[in-house]
Amino acid sequence: MNYELIDFNVMGDETGSLVAIEGLGNIPFEVKRVYYIYGTTSNAVRGRHAHRNLQQLIFCPVGSCEFTLDDGAERRTVRLQRPNQALYITSNIWREFSGFSHDCVVMVLASEVYNEDDYIRDYEEFLKEVRK
Ligand code: TYD
Repeated sequence: MNYELIDFNVMGDETGSLVAIEGLGNIPFEVKRVYYIYGTTSNAVRGRHAHRNLQQLIFCPVGSCEFTLDDGAERRTVRLQRPNQALYITSNIWREFSGFSHDCVVMVLASEVYNEDDYIRDYEEFLKEVRK
């Protein structure tokens, strides 16, 4: 399946840690948008959509969270639980986020500005499009 878990270099000393992300530097796209999600309830399921044309890098800088990824052929679950690890996903992957720790913050870097037309929010429609 077309996703990648990327471990970023941690620059730190005894006073703390720092992770730096540079568009077209240590990630393969220019960042046009950043959004973050917090205050999620432990039983919440978010996402439940795919994108037609979007690259995203997803971090859990605080806490942990589970991502179920589906490309229409198979389903995989990955858990983000380290502040320097990110999930890189591109188009045509159905994603669901769940298993939020009480303190979870999900931070997403995206290659495009928000565009509702880029979303596929119906699972049957998603299967139709990826199987074309
Ligand atoms: P949505 O993408 O459905 O959230 P999630 O995938 O976490 O379940 O977005 C929730 C709402 O926020 C929806 O009304 C669209 C809006 N939104 C924006 O206005 N801009 C954005 O960049 C994002 C990601 C969402």
